[in-house]
Amino acid sequence: MMIPSIQIIFASLSGRNQAIAGHLQAQLASRAQTVVTEISQADAFELPQADAVIVVSYTYHDGDLPDEAQDFFEDLKEVDLGRTKFAVLGSSSKKHVHFGRAVDYLTMQLNSSNGDQVADSVKIDQDPDDADWARVDQLAQRVLKSFD
Ligand SMILES: Cc1cc2nc3c(=O)[nH]c(=O)nc-3n(C[C@H](O)[C@H](O)[C@H](O)COP(=O)(O)O)c2cc1C
Repeated sequence: MMIPSIQIIFASLSGRNQAIAGHLQAQLASRAQTVVTEISQADAFELPQADAVIVVSYTYHDGDLPDEAQDFFEDLKEVDLGRTKFAVLGSSSKKHVHFGRAVDYLTMQLNSSNGDQVADSVKIDQDPDDADWARVDQLAQRVLKSFD
């Protein structure tokens, strides 16, 4: 049986998205080889080597990507993902007008870079509640199922 390699890349200021990334890793660990990387340390040019990429990000400023995600995002524009599977999610806040806009930008760019989106993107309002964790788990299951 194939053991897929899954890159989990997160941006987190106050810890919510880091916790979601850790939860995803725990969910996936028994069926995949997982690596968790903070986004400023992630190399977009290495993504095509992974079987799947999951990006977890908050939204900052006025509906923008986190500052530390900008380099990754710019590099991604030059990458051909060659149909690498991907999913995007993130905790942000409905107190802001542009709720979870970074999730939208990342989803669009990963599609533009020829990625294969295997789960609908998930936006979480601040701290995940039980229903949110269920959506996170469902996203993880969709990623795993895409390898069946
Ligand atoms: C200065 C500032 C600006 C923010 N701007 C937005 C925004 O435009 N849209 C949004 O949905 N959330 C926004 N947020 C909320 C964060 O994305 C949210 O608190 C998120 O859960 C933080 O995740 P973290 O704990 O992983 O850092 C902003 C937060 C701060 C502090």
